[in-house]
Amino acid sequence: MLPFFPLDMFAPHREEILRLVREAGTSNRFILKDNCARLEEELRRRTGAGDVIACASGTGALQLALKALGIGPGMEVIVQAFCCQPVASAVVNLGATPVFVDVDPRTMVMSPACVEERITERTRAILPAHLFSCMVDMPAIREIARRHDLLVVEDAAVQQGASLHGVPAGRWGHVGAFSFFQIKVLGAIGEGGAVLTDDPDLARACRMLRNHGQDGVTRFRHHLLGYNCRMDEIIAGWLLYRLPALEGELQRRARIGEYYNERFAALGEQLVTPPRGREGRCYYIYSLQTERRDEFRAYLESKGIGSHVYYPLPLPRQPAFAAFASPRDRLPNAERASRRNVAIPAYPTLRDSEVEYIADTVVKFFR
Ligand SMILES: Cc1ncc(COP(=O)(O)O)c(C=O)c1O
Repeated sequence: MLPFFPLDMFAPHREEILRLVREAGTSNRFILKDNCARLEEELRRRTGAGDVIACASGTGALQLALKALGIGPGMEVIVQAFCCQPVASAVVNLGATPVFVDVDPRTMVMSPACVEERITERTRAILPAHLFSCMVDMPAIREIARRHDLLVVEDAAVQQGASLHGVPAGRWGHVGAFSFFQIKVLGAIGEGGAVLTDDPDLARACRMLRNHGQDGVTRFRHHLLGYNCRMDEIIAGWLLYRLPALEGELQRRARIGEYYNERFAALGEQLVTPPRGREGRCYYIYSLQTERRDEFRAYLESKGIGSHVYYPLPLPRQPAFAAFASPRDRLPNAERASRRNVAIPAYPTLRDSEVEYIADTVVKFFR
């Protein structure tokens, strides 16, 4: 069986995992200590961000960013309708209103063309989220934000290492967010996230918000109404240990994605592949679209290949967000993406023979 994600992906690192647990467990240095500081510095160096704030998850990073920007009741934030739920829940949890816009039919990420018509006098921010292997068209989003004086919160949870016009993912907005959830390109042995920003005031606010609003100097002095959104030292140490391998693994992911694209090109419209190329791309997940999704998945399963459907419903059709659905929502591409998307294994530890077997199996089904 080739699972969609390998269950033993961290097994080769057993000794390092035990070392990290032993070190943290016996040093009385559990959260927000040297490893966190070193990780923040390393991410700053790699991305060129003015500041990086390590935190407990990608969802937490979005929450800290939106709260630090002052998002709250009476304000609207534009989010894409086809996405993971944190982009909407982070907005709703602050008492603000998510406004859902459609996605690009091929890349399945926020379509800038759909944003402007949903801007009102209450709109405060745009929250574009890169998905699968594609970044949102950030120059277009930034231009819309500039014209309407809006904030941009860039959800780069899944696109660490991608760049567009030389600007890394996570660096296009006023604030950017990364996730280190296990299966992400830089996956942790647990949860983790980071906020990126060039604005020192925002950085200071995020740093306080992640630790109950304290300033890191005077304990039990709470300047802001914050959260427990701290990163722990085992996770930070693990991420530091894994960072040097990231570039090589991203290259391997890209080569697998490119190989799939070449093999599937001849199958025509019945199987929509991600676009070619590496600009604005990071092959985190290789996601296809087909009308024959269920049949296709069953076939893959019968051949020992796992697959995954991300986001089977547009967000405003989820019960949790139904109250924010609007008669003005026009979301045909989000509906289609929800109905048709299916991701196949593309992780860097797949052997060439396994990648070929997966591609052969896909081609056989559609031929
Ligand atoms: C696009 C996107 N944004 C945000 C998140 C939230 O990250 P986390 O799981 O670390 O909270 C995810 C995670 O699945 C994601 O895919």
